[in-house]
Amino acid sequence: MGIVGTKTLVTYASKYGGTAGIAEKIGEVLREAGVETDVLPVDRVRDLAPYRAVILGSAVYIGGWRKPAVNFIRSREQELSGRPVWIFSSGPTGPADQGAFMGGGLLPKALLPVADRIHPRDVVIFGGAAFAERLKGLDKWILNNVKAPLGDFRDWAAIQSWAEAIARDLKGQN
Ligand SMILES: Cc1cc2nc3c(=O)[nH]c(=O)nc-3n(C[C@H](O)[C@H](O)[C@H](O)COP(=O)(O)O)c2cc1C
Repeated sequence: MGIVGTKTLVTYASKYGGTAGIAEKIGEVLREAGVETDVLPVDRVRDLAPYRAVILGSAVYIGGWRKPAVNFIRSREQELSGRPVWIFSSGPTGPADQGAFMGGGLLPKALLPVADRIHPRDVVIFGGAAFAERLKGLDKWILNNVKAPLGDFRDWAAIQSWAEAIARDLKGQN
């Protein structure tokens, strides 16, 4: 499977920055725990060789992941399978029990087979953030039409404790 490096990668697909903020927070928690970590948008990731673990996240739009995250998980399946992987989605605005995906799963249905083969250590959904002043054109219209609440529903405490558990796992303390 080739060389596996020592760093941890947090990589994400974000349209308006909400998911990028979650990825940055995860990176911060990992670094504070002494885990050497890079945080990068998925479309800027080249070689996975420097990384021994990957945390992959995407914003959710109309029940799906952002395309660059879909491309990433599909095209990197083999490398991801050889590493510990954690997956998060940044979706619902409003009540946390509101599903991000049709059918209420933890990932878009089309990605379940590839995710299964990668055997992620954990798959979670965090609340998202939608800001009226940032949304452009059709996005604003769609969100108004489905009457999704606007605002910041990112649960920083939940994000922090998830990242702390990852750090413990990576340091062999779980
Ligand atoms: C047009 C549009 C469609 C959305 N569709 C969904 C959805 O199907 N499920 C969901 O949980 N969240 C949905 N959201 C909420 C976003 O996932 C949430 O705002 C996310 O945190 C945005 O991340 P970003 O700022 O990284 O792009 C939608 C938001 C917009 C603007």
